[in-house]
Amino acid sequence: MRTEISFAPVAGIATELLAVLAADTQTAKGPDAKPQPTLLTADAQVQAAAAGVLATGEYKAGANETVLIHAPAGLAAKRLLMVGLGKLSKANVHGVREAAGTAVRFAKPRGIRELALALPSSEGLLHAMVPNAVARAAVEGALVGDFDADTYRTERKDQSVQTLIIGVAVAADADRAATEAAVREGVTVGESQNFARSLVNEPGNKLTPTILGQRAARMAEEVGLGWEVHSTEMLHQLKMGAFWSVAQGSAEPPALIVLRYEPEGVTEGPVLGLVGKGITFDTGGISIKPSDNMEKMKYDMAGGAAMLGAMRAIAMLKPKVRVIAIVCAAENMPSGTALKPGDVQTAMPISPDKPGKTIEIINTDAEGRLVLADGLTYARQLGATHLIDAATLTGAISVALGKTTGGVFSNDDATYGKFEAALAVSGEKFWRLPLGEEYAELIKSDISDIKNTGGRYGGASIAAEFLHTFAEDTPWIHLDIAGVAWVEDARPYIAKGPSGIAVRSILEWVRSY
Ligand code: BES
Ligand code: MN
Ligand code: ZN
Repeated sequence: MRTEISFAPVAGIATELLAVLAADTQTAKGPDAKPQPTLLTADAQVQAAAAGVLATGEYKAGANETVLIHAPAGLAAKRLLMVGLGKLSKANVHGVREAAGTAVRFAKPRGIRELALALPSSEGLLHAMVPNAVARAAVEGALVGDFDADTYRTERKDQSVQTLIIGVAVAADADRAATEAAVREGVTVGESQNFARSLVNEPGNKLTPTILGQRAARMAEEVGLGWEVHSTEMLHQLKMGAFWSVAQGSAEPPALIVLRYEPEGVTEGPVLGLVGKGITFDTGGISIKPSDNMEKMKYDMAGGAAMLGAMRAIAMLKPKVRVIAIVCAAENMPSGTALKPGDVQTAMPISPDKPGKTIEIINTDAEGRLVLADGLTYARQLGATHLIDAATLTGAISVALGKTTGGVFSNDDATYGKFEAALAVSGEKFWRLPLGEEYAELIKSDISDIKNTGGRYGGASIAAEFLHTFAEDTPWIHLDIAGVAWVEDARPYIAKGPSGIAVRSILEWVRSY
């Protein structure tokens, strides 16, 4: 998708489809309080073109509700599409992000390849929204909406929208430059999120750990990140016994992917360590999963993909902070060489003179925490002062929070606070859940330092506490995205399939340092 900006009046944009936002401005309550759909534009010609439809009362401007007018009178556009934000009093920048996605997803199946999106122009209606945040979010939403997962259909028709025109009503040159920067930022973020989604969408046979490493390297070259991709030998050298124990059952070698962002002149201050779970397929191993829905386990590398997407955006937006990303990629398979329940493995030591922690394997399906244990230790060894990990770690997180809110855990309130602030910008939903001694109790082993599962209840917190053992006192955030990395049912603004969750929040968190 190519993105252009138009500062001309939107009524004059000659385009296939002009999308305008609408909101319900009714403030009264009660049975007689009918919705008052109102267009969020100061353009009188657009207002006039829509007046007839709005007067019918058919259209209520509910969230992502659309209505189309063909050959709108007085407009240069062939079609006028209204996209609702719901109640104006509750409308926010995240609603605009969704509405932009809805407009694009409206256009796609109708063969409309070019559209213009009028950003809300009337200051009275914009109330709390920051105009450039709106511009950025709209572009992100449009790009995210453009993505579809059907890449392996032989008769696939590429229905992507080729051109997006962002229609903005600002006059001053300085404002224009700021809008242009916001739009460029939106493009970077939206494309980076889609980059992560395209990786998550790949089936296990098409995206092995080795291929994930190649994709990461290619991306790193394109955006100018430092990179290394290691495999079996390096895992042994680093004594990554936990990571290797997952990889040992597969014919596919593991990949230890390391990306480095080192901005010029920044030699002091924090080093942020991003660690992603990159299980390219999770069968469960010897503790094999039931076959129902097992095909979904191709998305068990979504945490790793989120880190790669975030690093792409970081490389392009250039925050003044050093960042290292580590993706631990492996396939979790049952085989004659596979990890077995009861095995004891030794995790990577934090320094060569210390012993690594020993782990009793109770369930080989709790493999994510094993690869992350060594990933977190390695990030700390490479100098990370602050850690964030993302992983499709537990089914239990979906039981706790459902399929729209991810889980966040942290050992440090200040670091968590920065993440919470990042959520306000990203619009992604995460909810903090507890760590603690009570959970640590549950993963004490009779034979070793720790075991890899701790019973039925509180599974997401137990898994997080397991990781805490390896993050130790380093300020750390853990994101459990198992429930939210895959969109189960298409929504008006996003396709069914990989969500690209966490890319935006991780990026904003990094930018806050
Ligand atoms: N990859 C799964 C978690 C998962 C489940 C991701 C559903 C996406 C959707 C993880 O490796 C796993 O199998 N976790 C186990 C842990 C258990 C054995 C303690 C689980 O949640 O059942
Ligand atoms: Mn598993
Ligand atoms: Zn897994």
